[in-house]
Amino acid sequence: MSVRPFLKWAGGKGQLLDKLSGYFPKALRDGSVRNYFEPFLGGGAMFFHVMQKFPIDSAYLMDANEELVLLYKTVRRATEPLISVLEQMERDYLKLGEAKRKARYLRVREELNSARPGMDFRKYSQAWVERASQILFLNKTCYNGLFRVNRAGGFNVPFGKYVRPTIVDAENLRGAAKLLAKATIRWGDFGYLGRTDAPFKTGSFIYYDPPYRPISSTSSFTSYSKLPFGDAEQARLAAMFTALHRQGIYQMLSNSDPKNSDPKDDFFENLYSSYRSTIYRVPASRSINSKAAHRGRINEIVITNYKA
Ligand SMILES: C[S@@+](CC[C@H](N)C(=O)[O-])C[C@H]1O[C@@H](n2cnc3c(N)ncnc32)[C@H](O)[C@@H]1O
Repeated sequence: MSVRPFLKWAGGKGQLLDKLSGYFPKALRDGSVRNYFEPFLGGGAMFFHVMQKFPIDSAYLMDANEELVLLYKTVRRATEPLISVLEQMERDYLKLGEAKRKARYLRVREELNSARPGMDFRKYSQAWVERASQILFLNKTCYNGLFRVNRAGGFNVPFGKYVRPTIVDAENLRGAAKLLAKATIRWGDFGYLGRTDAPFKTGSFIYYDPPYRPISSTSSFTSYSKLPFGDAEQARLAAMFTALHRQGIYQMLSNSDPKNSDPKDDFFENLYSSYRSTIYRVPASRSINSKAAHRGRINEIVITNYKA
């Protein structure tokens, strides 16, 4: 059985995995890359894919969203308690009619938000199991499966009317926990990987999937977390990419292609000017930002610091 992301996440790479795999470094495909890094983890589609396909000894995963990091760490550490809580939640929920389901949803959302100020996101406690179960429950029952927070960090997605949502896939969660056992999971800004004490080994591979640069001024989905991710962050990432290139690390980055909406927009060509010969465009269809006007051709941009 192949392990899939257990969280629906905006910008999830599930649909694009096969296409993106074509740009992996040869060293990954021939089994000589043993260390994998993913600093914008999100739903982790690429992590799960890479771990099942290649002989990776250790992975290093980061995300700036503390709720997401809490969830991954809890899945790994308290797999069975989490599954039991979720199975109970699923049984109770599926018995209810729509009005009561909605009330249950809103209650869980309220509990998640009101417990937030008192949460210690750095230190594991029993409270993490409850919180992780609430996050997964809400993710599977909310509108569109988004994880969106307001400025105060409150989860604010409305109720979604699914007839029979699967709230827990126990086997998948167990499989995910096994793969996560090989990973260090860290809450924080991607910039950590640019520091000299980041745990790279020769021939490490980093995959970056930063928040998308909005495809047009009207479609800005940037609320994965309270932190903004604007052009300044994209530039900071490009500077780190160049610094790590000098250390001999394989790197691959994907993002939305600004040329989808403005063919003259050279944003990434300018930021990654030393890598112009390894900037690729991959046809993609996107669920976020795919306003009718853009449906014609949506490309994803892929940038590598090696010839694939
Ligand atoms: C496009 S999503 C990644 C999607 C992921 N590849 C997937 O398949 O689900 C970008 C992620 O970057 C995280 N993020 C935003 N700003 C960040 C930062 N400064 N450092 C690290 N992660 C950040 C967000 O929380 C979000 O999970």
